[in-house]
Amino acid sequence: MIDKWEENNKEYWGGVASNYSNTYIDNWSNLENEFILQRICYANRNPFTKVLDLGCGTGLGYKLCSSLNTKFSYTGIDISNEMLGVFKKNHPNIVTFNFGMSNLQQFQPKTFDFVLSIFTAFSYTDNVEKTINEISRVLDDKGTILISVISRYSMRRILNLKFGKKEKYKTRGISSNGFSYSWVFTKSELHKLFQPDFTNISIVGYNTLGGVSFFSKFPRLWKINLFVSKLFPNLSHELIITASKK
Ligand SMILES: C[S@@+](CC[C@H](N)C(=O)[O-])C[C@H]1O[C@@H](n2cnc3c(N)ncnc32)[C@H](O)[C@@H]1O
Repeated sequence: MIDKWEENNKEYWGGVASNYSNTYIDNWSNLENEFILQRICYANRNPFTKVLDLGCGTGLGYKLCSSLNTKFSYTGIDISNEMLGVFKKNHPNIVTFNFGMSNLQQFQPKTFDFVLSIFTAFSYTDNVEKTINEISRVLDDKGTILISVISRYSMRRILNLKFGKKEKYKTRGISSNGFSYSWVFTKSELHKLFQPDFTNISIVGYNTLGGVSFFSKFPRLWKINLFVSKLFPNLSHELIITASKK
């Protein structure tokens, strides 16, 4: 299964690319984006200047960073050419690369001061440890990260009786015969993985209800969503880690 990991994931994300941005323009998605903006601000007490976006998709990370800061350089990478095709249509002058996040050889050490990977993109890497090492290598001293992963014991997964460390994941609201291989994490596993190279680690739960398509139709539930996620982070759909390089 692992051999086919990237090949499969390229195909899955390529297949959903044309519907991806249009699916996440509802009120619930806007609230999700607001939350990510707050976490980006939390991670970066000083303004970021050189950003690397892992699994940049159709350009949401670029859009969010641009709304906070007008003077920064941005580089997006993604394994899906189709996702990057949509990105390029929206932002023709922005630099993107088509390769997987576990191999960032293209970049010199200490090239970036902020690495982000939002809306669970990190969960789809073919190699978790290698990706963390690469992030650490390309990050400048005291550079920051904001990384989102799928939570292992989320309400969505419990309801679907899924408890393993890997999942055949389908993104919310887009029907497809395929799936993306993904890693899922608990808060303590995530902490253990990042702790050797990172400090000021904060891990928050996020979007307990949003993982279940049904609830995301009711933005009125947003505050309950935030409250439950804060109280029981592992039950949330995503875990978001922010930290700085040691
Ligand atoms: C859930 S989407 C998130 C896209 C974007 N970050 C956003 O928030 O809109 C996951 C993205 O990760 C990309 N991806 C999956 N596996 C990847 C890998 N190994 N390396 C880089 N990108 C990957 C997919 O092609 C897809 O664009």
